Amino acid sequence: MAIAVTKLKAGEVVALPTETVYGLAANALDEAAVAKVFEVKGRPTTDPLIVHIGRNEQIHDVCDLSPELDEVVQKLISEFWPGPLTLVLPKKSIIPDLVTSGQPTVAVRLSEHPVMRAICCEMNTPIAAPSANRFGCISPTSATAVEKELGGRIGLILDGGACNAGIESTIIRVEVGEKRPEFHLLRSGPIVKEELQKIGKVIRPKKVRNAEEAPGQLESHYAPETPMYVFEKPEDFVPDPELSYGLLSYRGSEKEGYINLHDWDEVEELSPGKGKLPEAAVRLFYALRQLDESGVDVIIAEPVAEAGMGVAINDRLRRASAKTRKQ
Ligand code: TXA
Ligand code: MG
Repeated sequence: MAIAVTKLKAGEVVALPTETVYGLAANALDEAAVAKVFEVKGRPTTDPLIVHIGRNEQIHDVCDLSPELDEVVQKLISEFWPGPLTLVLPKKSIIPDLVTSGQPTVAVRLSEHPVMRAICCEMNTPIAAPSANRFGCISPTSATAVEKELGGRIGLILDGGACNAGIESTIIRVEVGEKRPEFHLLRSGPIVKEELQKIGKVIRPKKVRNAEEAPGQLESHYAPETPMYVFEKPEDFVPDPELSYGLLSYRGSEKEGYINLHDWDEVEELSPGKGKLPEAAVRLFYALRQLDESGVDVIIAEPVAEAGMGVAINDRLRRASAKTRKQ
């Protein structure tokens, strides 16, 4: 951790663990360091970065909050931080435009991971950290996965173990609202709609407006190199005998004859504990990566139940298969 802090202070980028996915970190106030993050990931500068802080109070260093907005934010913070919830709020001018892609808002979060928190506190500056994958590719949930994505391009990967949420944070743009606070859901994640509704009204941005409202929420994302399709019922799918197939399964072998129906060359179960969504979330990117590396010609994924955290998992599956659908 001391080496990571030294490198960050020197304007270098390092990969750090969070509870969701690994992040590629840089001092958010150092524009040259932030530029390296975009370069290493191969990410367009139109896709803004999340800023991480180590203590709740630091939110006032990065965000410009009216007393009314601050009241709403404090409620969210006391309920969900530290944790996988990112808040999009009006930014302070200290945050370089490069971080926010010129938006007047900044996305901020306080990770639950002790390593990320300790480093943010030690740095005492906000840390910009997008997921530590190459642009559009599968997000890394272990240090090994970061090495596969970015090895050779960065000076340090801090191994903090496997991520225990497994999918990226929920992102909301927070507004005071007329009657109740309004939360515009820009990315679904581990903090689900039902939990947020206890504090305010959750609004899903309309598709047309999505590009301005949620920059970087691209249709194709998290994609394996192997062609991938999502099938509601993989048992109904007719395979090409010339090709080999890998199955990303949620229901597993529970259903009679299900796994054996086609001679799947590889099977990864999302929830060996049987139908548990948090377990499926933790395993999602790991299982996808395993299938991608297994050498099968095609990956077939089965969607999970569209409830609670299932919404976020299905969102990732849909985006991961978007590239194949378009071809
Ligand atoms: O769990 C996470 O959030 C992980 C870990 C490392 O913290 N980070 C992460 O960052 O997923 P990234 O860069 O892969 O995704 C951040 C997304 C951007 O693609 C963009 O869609 C959105 O956050 N975002 C960032 N700033 C924004 C802003 N000012 N307004 C709207 N959306 C923003
Ligand atoms: Mg990402």
